[in-house]
Amino acid sequence: MENNFDEVINRIGTECSKWDGFEKRFPGLNAKGCLPMWVADTDFKAPKKVIEAIVEKAKFGIYGYPKSKGEFFDSAVIQWIDKRHAWKLNKEWIVATAGVVPALTYVIQALTKEGEGVIIQPPVYYPFKRCIINNHRETIKNPLRFDDQKLNYEIDFEDLERKVKDPNNKLLILCNPHNPVGRVWSEQDLRKIGELCLENGVIIFSDEIHSDLILKGHSHTPLGKLNEQINQNVITAYSGSKTFNLAGLQISAIIIPNGKLRRKYIQQLEINSVSDINIFGLIAMEAAYKYGENYLHELLDYVEANIDYAIEFTEKNLKGVNIIKPQGTYLVWADFRGTGLSADEIDRFVIEKAKIAVDLGRWFGEEGAGFVRFNFACSRSTLQKALNQLKSALDDPYIK
Ligand SMILES: Cc1ncc(COP(=O)(O)O)c(C=O)c1O
Repeated sequence: MENNFDEVINRIGTECSKWDGFEKRFPGLNAKGCLPMWVADTDFKAPKKVIEAIVEKAKFGIYGYPKSKGEFFDSAVIQWIDKRHAWKLNKEWIVATAGVVPALTYVIQALTKEGEGVIIQPPVYYPFKRCIINNHRETIKNPLRFDDQKLNYEIDFEDLERKVKDPNNKLLILCNPHNPVGRVWSEQDLRKIGELCLENGVIIFSDEIHSDLILKGHSHTPLGKLNEQINQNVITAYSGSKTFNLAGLQISAIIIPNGKLRRKYIQQLEINSVSDINIFGLIAMEAAYKYGENYLHELLDYVEANIDYAIEFTEKNLKGVNIIKPQGTYLVWADFRGTGLSADEIDRFVIEKAKIAVDLGRWFGEEGAGFVRFNFACSRSTLQKALNQLKSALDDPYIK
């Protein structure tokens, strides 16, 4: 192994949200002393080549305006997406942007009007709803359905069809792989979504930020790759930030094949005066995509072993807790309803008794009540500590 993911790196006091910023995240709950397993960054160092590229630029000492939005960046993105997902991007389609959530905001502003509906599929990554509300659009929910047989979530297509047929609804935000439930949507599902939206004039923002993080037995299909018509109706977001731990560098590659949509998007960046990109973000993502393949393989092996370890531990030791095995991402959605505790009690139990800072299920929508989301992109010893804390808390006869 080239990368030592077992290394425990002390992040406390490094101005990091995950370890330094969690106490204020749980109003009404005492999160002091929690072990942080919440926000989606990893506890691992970025690949050596990324660190070297940043250091080299830093040593150069001149940080003036870059010449372009990154010729090298574009070619690294094209090669990476082709290699990972066999999707051949045209250079013109790529718009480097400072992050995926900002890109979503610009898409909402550019392609929908106040009062129009934007469809999401909760339980889902909560900033989606925040972007919709902050821009005075209407949040339209197409909740996922829990399949008791498969022990996983499915799309409710009948409901989706009703929602896309409403002429007020103009945009669907798709999360693939899905955060927090860990589904990697099948080609068949994607085709249905793509066609339904196309037939009804609903544009799709396909957030594929987790698409490197696909676990064994599954494969990711970019929605925009399916066919020419769907391709023209989809805006896809990629970033190296989840995989290579670059979130603090705020960088993403937004893929907009449709020239008309792309011009509107770029105009929106100009309206917001955000068309410049931080040079460190550009070179970090370029280096990650150029040299990060081995890192990714080792990361996936490590994370998958963490997930398997946690599932086995949970089955043996955590009565009433059920981990929904993810197909992708290092985020793990766990059902605590079998403990017999109410949703409020579960939140209190995990934060105040087990002392683990997680993303609470209800942050992802009311559909998430009784669940929590763990981030297992941590060293094995941190994971073991967390699981043992959960076990001790559950073994306490006075768990409420
Ligand atoms: C689905 C999804 N989209 C976007 C983001 C954040 O992207 P960015 O930091 O580039 O805004 C995350 C982070 O967890 C995520 O899970």
